[in-house]
Amino acid sequence: MRILVTGGAGFIGSNFVRYMLKMRPDVEVANFDALTYAGNLENLNGLENEPRYCFVKGSVASDEDVEKALAGKAFNAIVNFAAETHVDRSLTDVRPFIRTNVVGAQVLLDACRKHGVKRFLQVSTDEVYGSLGPTGEFTESSPIQPNNPYAATKASADFLARAAHKSHGLDVAITRCSNNFGPYQFPEKLIPLMIANALEDKPLPVYGDGLHTRDWLYAWDHCSAIDLVLRLAAPGSVYNIGGHKDVPNIEVVKLLLKLVGKPESLIRFVQDRPGHDRRYAMNCDRIRRDLGWLPAHSFEDALRATVKWYLDNPAWRARARSGEYQRYYEKMYGRRPPAKNG
Ligand code: NAD
Ligand code: TYD
Repeated sequence: MRILVTGGAGFIGSNFVRYMLKMRPDVEVANFDALTYAGNLENLNGLENEPRYCFVKGSVASDEDVEKALAGKAFNAIVNFAAETHVDRSLTDVRPFIRTNVVGAQVLLDACRKHGVKRFLQVSTDEVYGSLGPTGEFTESSPIQPNNPYAATKASADFLARAAHKSHGLDVAITRCSNNFGPYQFPEKLIPLMIANALEDKPLPVYGDGLHTRDWLYAWDHCSAIDLVLRLAAPGSVYNIGGHKDVPNIEVVKLLLKLVGKPESLIRFVQDRPGHDRRYAMNCDRIRRDLGWLPAHSFEDALRATVKWYLDNPAWRARARSGEYQRYYEKMYGRRPPAKNG
């Protein structure tokens, strides 16, 4: 099987490239990535001499780049991870999100039809469902009600993928996962940001009252689910993928501080994110029933392994937090006032 993985230099994409090369000896992977601030070829260190792997630089939003990557290569499938992914950035400027997440998805769908790529797997998010109240879980038939610009672009891509299946018979599958964590995650997201700040004795900025709740999924478990969907799901299917672990942010932060041996006095409650979804929780009965998938790692073990990875890779951490990141951090957090009740 020959697959084009888009966004394979990012966090989950690079884990997926490694997962497939390790677990599926019959698979060849081409990694197609624009190398934005979030893309880092260091995430794929060690694969330089792997004959079943190659890297192609290009943007999913460019018909020309995608055409060059696909022409004459006879890919069996595209797995689309490529995206602008950070909610906070989408609140400042949504245009790059529309280009990559929406236009890019359509460029890939058109290219699949043109080049006879059999399967298109769209990696989506639980954020397309919006926010939950104190109880309940999202199922695959929950209404699509995105609340932030990032989530709106991901929902748009889901609709375009669905339409390509319904209108043109393209073999599309959509996966909607919860919040991932693990090695190679860019430190603008909650878990790696808190680990990195704690290690440098910097304040840990918790939005609002810290009681916003996310369902946490270890990236390696997410990869095993995507592998199953890629190979076994029916055309047009949609699968939720979650970690069965809903935790309020403040508890995640306190757990991380314990793991790195730093005091809770580093915690700072800061002004909340606009449109901040209160709670996500995923019902994953469908993927368990149809494909036999369950996460293999407990949250606590996976969090410990993740902290160890960041501790073991100070050079990766330092490079990820240099240059553009410093400017971003200053802009995003420099003028963020304390929370009213913080
Ligand atoms: P990431 O930000 O770490 O990586 C995104 C990758 O896409 C980067 O390598 C970047 O260079 C690449 N990219 C960006 N624009 C591109 C373009 N125009 N053309 C080609 N490549 C481009 O993201 P991630 O956390 O690994 O997320 C991967 C996918 O999973 C995304 O589609 C995201 O919406 C989805 N997802 C992520 C999470 C999470 O918790 N991280 C949760 C739900 C869904
Ligand atoms: P994030 O990692 O940005 O993922 P998402 O917004 O896609 O869920 O944020 C996870 C949660 O952590 C979310 O409720 C916002 C919160 N958060 C903070 O409290 N402080 C931070 O500095 C960041 C980045 C996130």
